[in-house]
Amino acid sequence: MTLSLGWFSAVFAGFFSAHVLQRLCFPYFWRDLLFLLKVVRYGVTLELFKVTSRVRTVLDRFIQQAQRIPDKPFVIYEGSVHTYRDIDRRSNRFAQVFLDELKLKKGECVALLMSNEPDFLCAWFGLAKVGCSVAFLNTNIKSKSLLHCFNCCGAKTLIVGSDLLDTLDGILTTLLDDSIRVWAVKSHSEHTQVNTLLDKIDAASDEPVPAALRATTSLKSPTLYIFTSGTTGLPKAAVITHLQSLKAAAGFWAFGVTEDDVMYVPLPLYHSAASLIGIGGTIELGATCILKKKFSASHFWSDCRKHNVTVFQYIGELCRYLCNQPQSDRDKDHKVVMGVGNGLRPDVWREFHSRFGNIKMCEVYGSTEGNLCFMNHIGKIGTVGRSNFIYRLLFKYDLVKYDMLRDEPVKDPHGFCQRVEQGETGLLLSKVSAISPFFGYAGSKQLTEKKLMRDVFAKGDAYFNTGDLMSEEQEGFICFRDRVGDTFRWKGENVATTEVAEIVGQMDFIQEVNVYGVEIQGHEGRAGMAAMIVRPGFTFDGKKLFDHVTRELPAYARPLFIRLQEEMEMTSTYKQQKFQLVQSGFNPSTVPDPLFVLDQQQHFYIPLTDTIYQSIISGERKL
Ligand SMILES: *[C@@H]1O[C@H](CO)[C@@H](O)[C@H](O)[C@H]1NC(C)=O
Repeated sequence: MTLSLGWFSAVFAGFFSAHVLQRLCFPYFWRDLLFLLKVVRYGVTLELFKVTSRVRTVLDRFIQQAQRIPDKPFVIYEGSVHTYRDIDRRSNRFAQVFLDELKLKKGECVALLMSNEPDFLCAWFGLAKVGCSVAFLNTNIKSKSLLHCFNCCGAKTLIVGSDLLDTLDGILTTLLDDSIRVWAVKSHSEHTQVNTLLDKIDAASDEPVPAALRATTSLKSPTLYIFTSGTTGLPKAAVITHLQSLKAAAGFWAFGVTEDDVMYVPLPLYHSAASLIGIGGTIELGATCILKKKFSASHFWSDCRKHNVTVFQYIGELCRYLCNQPQSDRDKDHKVVMGVGNGLRPDVWREFHSRFGNIKMCEVYGSTEGNLCFMNHIGKIGTVGRSNFIYRLLFKYDLVKYDMLRDEPVKDPHGFCQRVEQGETGLLLSKVSAISPFFGYAGSKQLTEKKLMRDVFAKGDAYFNTGDLMSEEQEGFICFRDRVGDTFRWKGENVATTEVAEIVGQMDFIQEVNVYGVEIQGHEGRAGMAAMIVRPGFTFDGKKLFDHVTRELPAYARPLFIRLQEEMEMTSTYKQQKFQLVQSGFNPSTVPDPLFVLDQQQHFYIPLTDTIYQSIISGERKL
């Protein structure tokens, strides 16, 4: 008896002291461990798919859920409830029409240009059910880029939402000339060459098409193409394989979300966050999702109350817009307990907490095409993720020294990169390997290669260059610092500086143009700015430039500011110097060159005066 008690107390004391020690040294130990176990468990499941060649895709999971919980609301959109069965049946109708009328074949790629609505999902799942891959097109995208998207993924068919048919006006003939078939999600069409889908859908059977059509034996076969802004101009089609969509679909689950949760998805479905993490995650759990056509700050909380929303998806600016809404006594009257997203700045994060209560904000870091992802499952303010030695075993990443002035990594005498010290900011590189493959971009080996860095630490190695400057702080928290190179974010979208520069440079009066992003107090991301040299004998034409960028570029990509320069500085490696331009900003009292600002009311680039500058800084002027 004494013996066993002694044994018990020894173990207890040992456990207790180990526990106390852990709490002191590693306050996040248990939460990290639980999280990692989930990640590992899911990873093992995926590895088993590889071994057995029996891949259970996100679509398979959806069909499973439709049998398991047919009457459970899957998507609620503008007040109408669509159950798992509803969406399953309706996507069967789409699949039937795709087979019988469109004669689509397994393995084909089809482009989808639709706004957020339940039929986006039905068309997507319908295509997947007949074995087609789907290219999601950004609904803001303009003529030239849109045409380019078809070349990337080889799509010969376009499915366009009823509200977006008009956006094709300028390019419809070009599409038809390129023998691209256009099908509108409508019952009638004024265009004789645009086919209609809805009349056929209504007449089609809702029986499933043969399961063999959707079956796949490889996790590495492409299922989606999602466009991301390129560093080399036009959008790039990131290849999304089943592996990536399954990983993304596990995101909510890994954060502890359950099937009883109600998700709020106000982000566009053509981005991977809403489609892969939001919809995929809802399916994985068998939960319910409130889908919004567009985000509305004034409706957000009343929506959340009405539908008992518990989890919402965000991008940084969305939370800022919510904080900018007038205060109300009901600010904390809701059931929301978690936000999942990216780009939340520490100041907004704190304000969000104090306004709306203790909502755990889980930042996810990872690009659509990237092979690395960080998740801040702790919810610590200002950090995008966590790392520790086990995570480092699973994901081989490194932060290397970066020279902002030369705009390239610092090399040692042997030509290799150098790791930064803990806490120091460096360029994030992620090793390409069998467990972290990089699938690249459709139709361009060159683009894929450009995103890779070779011979980084040793001859023959290969790393995915994220283009993001990050730091790893004490206790393994990862913080996002800045983005280097040729893209920046504005209004939640990536802007490719070279794409903008190419389009702006088409103006006859411009000799050379350099596009970059500048920070504006009170706004997320960076606003576009173009430094340019006017061609000798010409003058800057603010009207012509305004009309041109309005026609050719989506709103978020149009340069907000113009800076006229006499000459343009280069880096020592003959790239356009951006860093100093970014630093000097757009303040007319400190910038020695003439500045202009895009004016929505006057439809003109007008001179940027001190008064306008002040109204921008104070947030009065709408950008
Ligand atoms: C939300 O929750 C309340 C209380 O738990 C319940 O009475 C109400 O019916 C729920 N509303 C919806 C739309 O589920």
